[in-house]
Amino acid sequence: MSNKKGVSRRQFLNYTLTGVGGFMAAGIVAPMLRMAVDPVLKASTDDEFQNVGISEDDLTNEPQRVEWVAEQVDAWHTSETDRIAYVFKNDEGEIIAHSPVCTHLGCYISWGENEDYPDQYYCPCHQGRFYKDGTNVAGTPPTRPLDEFEVKVENGVLHIGNIKS
Ligand code: FES
Repeated sequence: MSNKKGVSRRQFLNYTLTGVGGFMAAGIVAPMLRMAVDPVLKASTDDEFQNVGISEDDLTNEPQRVEWVAEQVDAWHTSETDRIAYVFKNDEGEIIAHSPVCTHLGCYISWGENEDYPDQYYCPCHQGRFYKDGTNVAGTPPTRPLDEFEVKVENGVLHIGNIKS
């Protein structure tokens, strides 16, 4: 009767193949996991500002419609979306960029296109109105002001970022 201590040839092969197999599997799975998770963990950067191709000098105290194409990164998917803002300089010389999305139910507003309210934003869906500073007009459906985009000027050119929180 044999009373062997130690590792048999069969056990040695099992341990070795399991170890090598596990190492190879980790080498395959790790990059896939990194690719899947990495974009989610990335901090947002200043690159979220987009050059909208309009000079600061071209801005007046009258809101003007500005359109641009923004690159939108959702985790690992990048797409391009059309964006719109109404941009003007207020009495203090600050640049204001309003979102065109009505805060009632999300229709698009416009500036000065309703001849009854030439100095207001107007929403055609339910006759919602906003003053030039974005405040909702009492007695119309919207119950809060328009959203505002972050803005900055670089080399004299307007850049628009995300909605202010
Ligand atoms: S969606 Fe603008 S008033 Fe209703």
